[in-house]
Amino acid sequence: MQRLESAKLNLKQKGYLDIETPNIDYVKEINRLKKEKNAILLAHYYQRDEIQEIADFVGDSLALAQQAAKTDADVIIFAGVHFMAETAKILNPNKKVLLPDLLAGCSLADSCPPDKFSEFKKQYPNHVVVTYINCSAEIKALSDYVCTSSNAKKIVDAIPKEQPIIFAPDRNLGAFLNKETGRNMLLWDGSCLVHEAFSLEKLIDLHKAHADAEIIAHPESESHLLQVAKYIGSTAGLLNHVRNSNKTKFIVATEAGILFQMMQENPDKDIIPAPAKEDNTCACSECAYMKMNTLQKLYLCIKHELPYIEVNAELAKKAIIPIERMLELSK
Ligand code: 13P
Ligand code: SF4
Repeated sequence: MQRLESAKLNLKQKGYLDIETPNIDYVKEINRLKKEKNAILLAHYYQRDEIQEIADFVGDSLALAQQAAKTDADVIIFAGVHFMAETAKILNPNKKVLLPDLLAGCSLADSCPPDKFSEFKKQYPNHVVVTYINCSAEIKALSDYVCTSSNAKKIVDAIPKEQPIIFAPDRNLGAFLNKETGRNMLLWDGSCLVHEAFSLEKLIDLHKAHADAEIIAHPESESHLLQVAKYIGSTAGLLNHVRNSNKTKFIVATEAGILFQMMQENPDKDIIPAPAKEDNTCACSECAYMKMNTLQKLYLCIKHELPYIEVNAELAKKAIIPIERMLELSK
């Protein structure tokens, strides 16, 4: 018993047992540590409400990459998922980029393994490769252009019409872009589990009960669902749309985290989450990866400057080219 207590004390002195000190005011400590370390906290709209509330900047994937590219902070704390923090690191090889939980991945990024994609690409040597930012550094290094959901059309339109394109990894966004641009891009067969969890049947029933509501959706959703949406856009696009619309009721098909901002910005509008296929207690769809970041992990991560993102320098040199192309075309 005594040995256990002394081992605990030892761990506590090293700061490893903060997990057992629930009296910490995480918000106060995070703010203090941010100042002390000249750190910036970037958060995606899908993060937990309490994290969005204390972030220095909350945005969609594009805005977060743009912030990461221009920050003069010494440390970047990324409250998002791995590919987002990895992009920030590629843009800032000499800065420390922290991610509160290294296991915060992305089902869409996982649906495109580099070895398989590299083989696929070899079969189409005349194609240029446009990849959605939701992919690994290895996939970015195999790409000509990176895009996000808010600039994808612009990026694809910037490529000459006669040039054949491979689009990866999201087949839903790819199919939507083919429709929007009139192209016939070759699509990698990847998808996001969260956006494919919405039920069209339940959505239609819900719409019947709220006929005055407008259905809006993220383009990672399946094409049959996008067909019934009146507006399709990135997380920032969806927020802008609701803010500027004179409609007062919306059914929103994207990850539930966005509802926090949407409701805060539009207290007089009715925001209804689109129903998921699974009959669970929550009507909405949550990204388990995004929700892995908690205030406690955020605090520990800033305090110990761990875990941090590492990207092999050679790989980063290749991966930065399509990212910078995207940033240039998005100005
Ligand atoms: P946005 O670029 O719209 O923020 O989307 C990020 C994402 O992961 C959607 O699932
Ligand atoms: Fe990836 Fe989907 Fe989560 Fe976005 S919502 S981070 S695409 S798993």
